Amino acid sequence: MDITWQDPDTGALGYVVIDTLVRGTASGGLRMRKGCTLEEVRGLAQGMTRKEAIHLREGRHYVPVGGAKGGIDFDPRAPGAKDVLERFLVDINPIMHAYWALGEDLGVRQDDIDEILARRELGSGLSAVNKLVDDPAAVEARATKAFSAIVDGVAQDELVGGLGVATSVIAALYDAGRDPRESTAVIQGFGSMGGATARYLAEAGLRIVGIADADGFVSNPAGLDVEALLATRDQFGGIDRGALRHEDQVGDRDDWLAADADVLVPAAVSYSITPDNCDRIVASLIVEAANMPVLPAAEETLLAHGVTVIPDFLANSATNAWWWWVTFGDVDGSWEDSRTIVTTTLRELTTEVLAAARDQGISPRAAAQAKVDANLAALHASDH
Ligand SMILES: NC(=O)c1ccc[n+]([C@@H]2O[C@H](COP(=O)([O-])OP(=O)(O)OC[C@H]3O[C@@H](n4cnc5c(N)ncnc54)[C@H](O)[C@@H]3O)[C@@H](O)[C@H]2O)c1
Repeated sequence: MDITWQDPDTGALGYVVIDTLVRGTASGGLRMRKGCTLEEVRGLAQGMTRKEAIHLREGRHYVPVGGAKGGIDFDPRAPGAKDVLERFLVDINPIMHAYWALGEDLGVRQDDIDEILARRELGSGLSAVNKLVDDPAAVEARATKAFSAIVDGVAQDELVGGLGVATSVIAALYDAGRDPRESTAVIQGFGSMGGATARYLAEAGLRIVGIADADGFVSNPAGLDVEALLATRDQFGGIDRGALRHEDQVGDRDDWLAADADVLVPAAVSYSITPDNCDRIVASLIVEAANMPVLPAAEETLLAHGVTVIPDFLANSATNAWWWWVTFGDVDGSWEDSRTIVTTTLRELTTEVLAAARDQGISPRAAAQAKVDANLAALHASDH
């Protein structure tokens, strides 16, 4: 189901795409970006279907729902952006209540969604799942605990996604017979995803030899001091150049791609690895933390060169799954519980998909998609 909305005041267009419904419900964030298109929202909604379905697993309270996404074609920094968001949320509210559980995405802050919905008495962004939970008070208590936890200076909800990506990297290295402690990684992006990925890769003993942010590429073949950079990072994921050490180098932000490292983690923007630039890559493993960073034609070339690409809908799925593990009670909201479920699940999923890809002579993306297709068939069968 596609909905196109038009803001009566500015004329801006907004979109909601519900790609699949499972038990009458779909999950996916809302983004605001000048130039956002229905096509983009469709692609992201399909990605949400995959990120949900890949997590079907015996014995879990969280049973995947369907995938959706919303997008508003408006500059989030322009005056009046929050008013546009408010009019969108008011008009779309019946769809949210009935079907669409939403959270923040690019250009939209969770605080703004929550403030608008509370002030306009429109319920919560997760109203659509009320019909699926037995004990709303227990859900609220777990969520409060989960979203207030700070782990070594970083909010837990900004860590779980990158912890999942790092777990996927480590599992893929072991799968290839390589020791993480003798491996190097470069990350594009140092926000929620890139920052947490860097933290947990460094913790596992990888040397983080380069990190790109919107302003440039900082690098050091001996390894960057990730915790020092995290401690001084700005709210947009910007690296404080003043926190760099004497030996650290600063270069152009596009230098990350060709850096000498075993692992590349694109964790910033979509479409960063293209047919035009993929020949510069020397890494043998790429793990997608961003959504859609590797274009299909580039992936074909990389696969032909023996590079392993772990797809976004597996590697970056932990944030979305974690919200539901908290909601449905697979975790109590604590870091200990959250860390265990993220690492166990992402390690097993990555290892399983890589083994299936090898056995069948297909790409990890195709193997992960086959798992999604089988899980979706099972979910739809139990829906009837
Ligand atoms: N946050 C999540 O839980 C989550 C979950 C799944 C997927 N994603 C995807 O991961 C990506 C990053 O999300 P985030 O929440 O970490 O964003 P963020 O806004 O917290 O951080 C973005 C980072 O990318 C850097 N950056 C921006 N443009 C760049 C460029 N051209 N070159 C190099 N660096 C650049 C910024 O400086 C910043 O460090 C997005 O594609 C997002 O859709 C995020």
